[in-house]
Amino acid sequence: MTDAPAAYSGPKRILSGIQASGSLHLGNYLGALKRFVELQDTAPTFVFVADLHAITVWQDPAVLAAQTREIAAAYIASGLDPKHSTIFPQSAVREHAELAWIFNCVARLGWLDRMTQFKEKSGQHKERASVGLYTYPVLQAADILLYRATHVPVGEDQKQHLELTRDIAQKFNNDFSAPGFFPLPEPMIQGPATRVMSLRDGSAKMSKSDPSDLSRINLLDDADAIASKIRKARTDPEPLPDTLEALKARPEADNLVGIYAALADETKAEVLARYAGQGFGVFKPALAALAVEKLGPVTGEMRRLMADPAEVDRVLVAGAERAREAAAPILAETRAKVGFWSAGAG
Ligand code: TYM
Repeated sequence: MTDAPAAYSGPKRILSGIQASGSLHLGNYLGALKRFVELQDTAPTFVFVADLHAITVWQDPAVLAAQTREIAAAYIASGLDPKHSTIFPQSAVREHAELAWIFNCVARLGWLDRMTQFKEKSGQHKERASVGLYTYPVLQAADILLYRATHVPVGEDQKQHLELTRDIAQKFNNDFSAPGFFPLPEPMIQGPATRVMSLRDGSAKMSKSDPSDLSRINLLDDADAIASKIRKARTDPEPLPDTLEALKARPEADNLVGIYAALADETKAEVLARYAGQGFGVFKPALAALAVEKLGPVTGEMRRLMADPAEVDRVLVAGAERAREAAAPILAETRAKVGFWSAGAG
């Protein structure tokens, strides 16, 4: 357990980010974006485009800025209100990198050695992975604690990184005799779509890196593409069951019901209550219609914003400014705790 001796007593703050690498898919939308929008009215919200994280694997410099704007466009198109929520590119707030360095000196090699995402992403040739890919979760901890964020909405795959963030916060607070200095942030992994699976394989996560485009619904897919991918989604021949228990044993069916529930703002049980006993010949067209209805407006607005980079840039400039204002004093306090020189100090 990582409970602090003296708990953090500052205000609630929500923070999350999405990497600027490749196109967004339904998993990102349901597991993250849609959740940010639902939560933004509950506390000050910081949402950034993780471009520092993106370059842990090679990114073409000619497209990185456009990818950054694309994620920002998705934030706004999904309903994040730039007046209310602070939307910014991570690399525009240099404090992230500085705090990450301090945390590199707090985190232990053994902790990072346990990170499953590094093992998956580095594959068989770990010696060829960038050092940045290895320390990636340390930067993530810095992203969160730089704002003393207390609540972090993410998909299931980020759980381990959030645990590491708590460990780093705890160790910093202990090492520098500063109980409650950093909060131990709560991961918010909730709802029916915290782990959206591939449409082709109910045992694999929906992901940007899957070579098959049929495995995912991209946020920029048009209505025809969405309907066709759902039609071709792998399923079994049985009708939908009437209990969650029975659904659990059928990963592909479970995934489609979870997607339906998340899009409709219902629980899986409510979806089953309506569709139990029906086959996929009925359920898939209903799901396709719902997906088109819910995603269509987001896609349309995203395309409009991507055609107007100046509007997106205005949001990012203002957001970066606000983020810096929030981050700078916390980094200054952190530097003082570590004992770094500043004129007149010590
Ligand atoms: P990234 O860019 O891989 O994914 C962005 C968000 O989408 C969620 N997600 C999913 N949710 C449900 N089903 C899926 N198939 C699925 N695939 C992705 C992820 O869980 C995530 O919430 N390390 C982060 C970015 C990051 C961050 C942070 C997040 C950097 N710093 C600080 C929170 C706080 C990442 O790579 O997300």
